[in-house]
Amino acid sequence: MIRVAIMASGTGTNAKALLKAESELSDVSVELVITDKIDAGVIEISKSFSKPIEVIEKKESTKTEHESRIKKTLKDYKIDWIFLAGYMRILSSDFIDSFFDSNIQQSRIINIHPSLLPHFRGLNAYERAYEEKSEHIGISIHFVDGGMDTGKIILQERFQSDFNHGFEEFKEQGLALEHKLYPHVLKNLPLIQQKGHL
Ligand code: GRF
Repeated sequence: MIRVAIMASGTGTNAKALLKAESELSDVSVELVITDKIDAGVIEISKSFSKPIEVIEKKESTKTEHESRIKKTLKDYKIDWIFLAGYMRILSSDFIDSFFDSNIQQSRIINIHPSLLPHFRGLNAYERAYEEKSEHIGISIHFVDGGMDTGKIILQERFQSDFNHGFEEFKEQGLALEHKLYPHVLKNLPLIQQKGHL
């Protein structure tokens, strides 16, 4: 059984899609949800799936202290893989290295980013793509490395928009694709763990 933790800071719609998919898997199990925000929507979502949720706020602690509390929790739950789902902090290289898998030469940390990488790295990717009426719109799921949304791509898909509708509709369209792709990656985690790609 591959033991997964989801880390999220916000609404948690991706966490929800992952938890829904996980209930039908026999070789992958979401054992834990971690959030750094006391009022994150993901807390209620985890509870509704009867999953342990650990709220680990940074507050006055340093980044190193905060991450070592997270690492300890991940260790307590014997977590093999982390799925970042709107986790709004940059992880340090020390943290990323602590999940390095020498077999696949990648960290066992995966992120979902709402753009067709390498376009629109960083914050507010939907907003920037919409503003520009970009033709490079899509969703990317990638391994986490030391850079900002620079890790090796696992899965990527475009979507189309004529930009005639409002931003909210555009974002909904992207989120619907996120909710399809991230569970697909979770389902195929045994393969990714073995080969380093889908
Ligand atoms: C998603 O757009 C995801 O791609 C990005 O953060 C957002 C999280 O949304 N990394 P939610 O909390 O899963 O609804």
